[in-house]
Amino acid sequence: MSMLQKVKDFLHETEHFTAKSLEELEQFRLKFLSKKGIIQELFNEFKEVPSEQKKEFGQKLNELKDFVHHKFVQLKTLLEEAGHTTRKIDLTLPGEPFILGSQHPISIIRFEIIGIFNRLGFTVSEGPEIEDDWHVFSALNFPPEHPARDMQDTFFIEKNPDVILRTHTSSVQIRMMETQNPPIRIIMPGRVFRNEAISARAHCFFHQVEGLYIDRNVSFADLKQTLMFFAKEMFGEETQIRLRPSFFPFTEPSAEMDISCSLCGGKGCNVCKYTGWLEILGCGMVDPNVLESCKIDSKAYSGFAFGMGIERIAMLKFGIRDLRLYSENDLRFLRQFNRVG
Ligand code: DAH
Repeated sequence: MSMLQKVKDFLHETEHFTAKSLEELEQFRLKFLSKKGIIQELFNEFKEVPSEQKKEFGQKLNELKDFVHHKFVQLKTLLEEAGHTTRKIDLTLPGEPFILGSQHPISIIRFEIIGIFNRLGFTVSEGPEIEDDWHVFSALNFPPEHPARDMQDTFFIEKNPDVILRTHTSSVQIRMMETQNPPIRIIMPGRVFRNEAISARAHCFFHQVEGLYIDRNVSFADLKQTLMFFAKEMFGEETQIRLRPSFFPFTEPSAEMDISCSLCGGKGCNVCKYTGWLEILGCGMVDPNVLESCKIDSKAYSGFAFGMGIERIAMLKFGIRDLRLYSENDLRFLRQFNRVG
């Protein structure tokens, strides 16, 4: 076989060559491109080629050399890109960023409320979401015909009217007073349920924090001072409070508390409906009937209670306008609350 034919055969062979691994490619390089490889050998044999074939032989040999070199580089890049690589990894490069979870606004406010009352010596307790009539209504002095007992407002479970989803966390007050002796100073956060059509301003479940303080000589002034401390801690030192007479079956007297509008500072805006005030909770002195229901001597002890909606406080703090956002799990909403821990 002529030397020229040999070169042509190698061209043909290398044209169809592919490597499945870098090791295989290295074998290819050693065979053709190394100092003792085929191409160098062919260059060494150049002088033995008959002079009339030298030109064509030289051209083909250069073609082979360029082709094999090009092929080698191409395959190397491909294999490295495919991950069959022994490339060094730069450990100093910054890592791929990943998104940290964040606390739900309800949790943020829940912890903030708990923190404020903890500083006043309140401890935290919880009660069941599935309750009975006694703890949600009867022991709280609701008369039998009270509209809250209606199926319109309350979710009843099964056909038994004594199995209900609690409509407020006041039920936990009863559980605590039944099992503890005064002094009692607790806050009770939890989820509550009401049979409401879901809209921007109402939902079938939401969260409340209930507060209760029972001791000898607890007065309305203690209630006022406690709630003022809370309002200033929560909404800022400049916050004012006002108490409006109200009615709840379980407190006497009862009141609703407003805070000066935290958005306009009391000047009037569309959030406070140009009144300068925002209602945030219900409160009052625990009705003696309630104490007696829990076998606490109402002659010896008195106390106050209050209840507030966490969603409402979070709406005011964060400027949230639609209750449904809390439970839709829209990440665009949730990611805005990146306060962790
Ligand atoms: N339970 C009431 C509600 O769900 C809120 C409330 C008002 C709780 C007055 C209290 C209170 O403890 O004293 O609307």
